[in-house]
Amino acid sequence: MSVAVIGMGGIGGAVAACLALSGRHRVTACVRRSIGEITLDTAEGSVRLALDTATSPASVNAVDWVLVCTKAHDTASTSSWLKRLCGPITRVAMMQNGIGHADRVPQFVSASAVVPTVVHFNGERTAPDHFRLRHASHQDVSVPDTEAGRSFVHLFDGTSLKTACSADFHTLQWSKLLINAAANPVTALTRQRLAVLRRDDIRTLCLRLLDEGVAVARADGANLAEDAAPRIFDALMEYPPEVGTSMYLDSLEGRPLEADALTGAIIDAGTRLGIPTPVNETLLALLHAISAPEA
Ligand SMILES: NC(=O)c1ccc[n+]([C@@H]2O[C@H](COP(=O)([O-])OP(=O)(O)OC[C@H]3O[C@@H](n4cnc5c(N)ncnc54)[C@H](OP(=O)(O)O)[C@@H]3O)[C@@H](O)[C@H]2O)c1
Repeated sequence: MSVAVIGMGGIGGAVAACLALSGRHRVTACVRRSIGEITLDTAEGSVRLALDTATSPASVNAVDWVLVCTKAHDTASTSSWLKRLCGPITRVAMMQNGIGHADRVPQFVSASAVVPTVVHFNGERTAPDHFRLRHASHQDVSVPDTEAGRSFVHLFDGTSLKTACSADFHTLQWSKLLINAAANPVTALTRQRLAVLRRDDIRTLCLRLLDEGVAVARADGANLAEDAAPRIFDALMEYPPEVGTSMYLDSLEGRPLEADALTGAIIDAGTRLGIPTPVNETLLALLHAISAPEA
């Protein structure tokens, strides 16, 4: 298969390296700054490999698969890549957090070509040409159990990434969104790692925002119990306290935050479904305020 990976950050770097190392695909990294050889670190060791890179959309043609690995708010900026890379049979996998992946891509990409994913592994870019992959569960990427989803799973045959179709992808996607929508805003706003969740007042805040999120998710058809919030919070407490979320790290670096794709997605779905989300609205206003230059 010909595969284009747009965005060589933590996720894109790991995915491009794993696909290239399988020897089964022609992989092109679509990047803003050229990189030649890259190093991938895993628990099994480090491997250095050469990767084809493209820095201009004019230099690429239609491929079988496009993997969009940018932050959600950068999706619109991939438009010029997608115009060149998408042909009649191209599939576009959205390797991003959140829900409503098909709504993020430009309209010229058919919704039926889009494969949403839930990414479970941890990917980190430790230097421009250096990536670290950590497996966080028995599965690395989940996709819907559709023809396109099954095709995505086969793409990763022979790689070290375990991909699988989920029988209830909708619920899985909401569950991951809720974990992210609790951990990311709270760590970014407090400028603290996950240890901050061990405070009683922060636990109360998280349970309130999760209660709202669970009500919205249930109204949207996710198969979650009415009292799921404490279980979601407990799952979060299993992460090591020293872990820094991506929104925490982005806020420290003054980079844009994925607030609209996480907290904003709950508020938007709540508005659509008539479920109030005042706690999430408060957090989103604060996240917007810390990510904008001072007025
Ligand atoms: N990292 C994780 O462990 C993890 C786990 C689960 C889910 N996710 C989700 O996966 C998505 C990607 O996360 P990430 O951690 O990989 O983000 P990241 O490290 O910030 O990487 C994003 C990359 O996209 C590139 N990019 C942005 N716009 C581009 C464009 N128009 N053309 C080419 N490249 C472009 C950026 O390039 P520059 O370097 O030039 O800025 C950057 O290298 C996010 O939605 C995140 O929430 C991440």
